[in-house]
Amino acid sequence: MTRTTTRKFQNPVSFSQAVDLLKSGEVCAFPTETVYGLGADAFDAGAVLKIYQTKDRPSFNPLIVHCAHMNMAEKIVRFSPVARKLASFWPGALTLVLPRLQETRICDLVSAGLGTVGVRVPAHPLAQELIKAVGRPLAAPSANPSGRLSPTSVGQVRHAFNDRVAVLDGADCAAGLESTILGVEEERVVQLRSGAITRREIELLLDTEIEIAPANTAISAPGMMVSHYAPKAKIRLNATRAEAGEAFLGFGGAGGTAGPLTKNLSPGGDLAEAAHNLFGFLHDLDATGASRIAVAPIPAAGLGEAINDRLSRAAAPRKVETVPE
Ligand code: TXA
Ligand code: MG
Repeated sequence: MTRTTTRKFQNPVSFSQAVDLLKSGEVCAFPTETVYGLGADAFDAGAVLKIYQTKDRPSFNPLIVHCAHMNMAEKIVRFSPVARKLASFWPGALTLVLPRLQETRICDLVSAGLGTVGVRVPAHPLAQELIKAVGRPLAAPSANPSGRLSPTSVGQVRHAFNDRVAVLDGADCAAGLESTILGVEEERVVQLRSGAITRREIELLLDTEIEIAPANTAISAPGMMVSHYAPKAKIRLNATRAEAGEAFLGFGGAGGTAGPLTKNLSPGGDLAEAAHNLFGFLHDLDATGASRIAVAPIPAAGLGEAINDRLSRAAAPRKVETVPE
């Protein structure tokens, strides 16, 4: 069970209410261009603890710190020349895991005791304004109970926490998939999580191939643990049609039979549209009460890498020992 206050919020809250909550050490959910985040002042250990409690997240799974601009990020982590180059994706859907500066005011709980911190500058204007108004970097995981689907709309956040968490409304998230996470040690770049910025875009910028961390390897990259992003329904991948009792999530020409239990991520076969719709449609099909969702094959190229990653995690058996986000 997630632990939230007994207080119910009149959601969505106003911008000034969101600022007041965050300044007074409370959590508040806010929109980013990827998914909604559950934010707290990254300097305030008490506030950050509330994120872990609200999500029921294991405290050894570190949080991403959201900054308004490069200057703010430079006070938290050390940028190698390659990391600086990668920061040209900012503001945007890229998280860089970099060595933590000794003098940073980020509390230890944010990075779960690791010597690195994941930082990103989100592109959503409200996220930027919020960080500036609070005047502090905001630690924020996706605004879902641990192990569940990331929310891409204000309604999904409200539903997930039953309005016991304040939410700032920034409309539906444009990308709909979480940020791409790269670990950077000097020259070495390792993709820890595929996401809204494709590997191809990154490799084009660096003019070299990057490493991909093998799935489910180290605790230094807990985001890679297998069972994540899970709806309540089971997931069956690479399905050509729904079996009895199943909902169907189609793609392109494999759209399934029209009906309340069927959705098509992108009838025209556009991967950006599919990414944008992915979590929302999984939420919707889950809400029908179907015990299983059959999913059409999705091409692996470009954004298909991240879409297939999330789907295979959603389909993974839910073992007790896996670490949810
Ligand atoms: O798009 C996103 O990245 C969204 C929005 C809100 O910014 N955030 C998000 O946060 O997806 P979260 O906590 O759900 O996923 C972040 C992942 C976690 O799996 C965590 O393990 C990994 O990033 N992470 C954070 N800091 C890390 C670090 N220092 N080293 C390795 N992995 C780290
Ligand atoms: Mg998450």
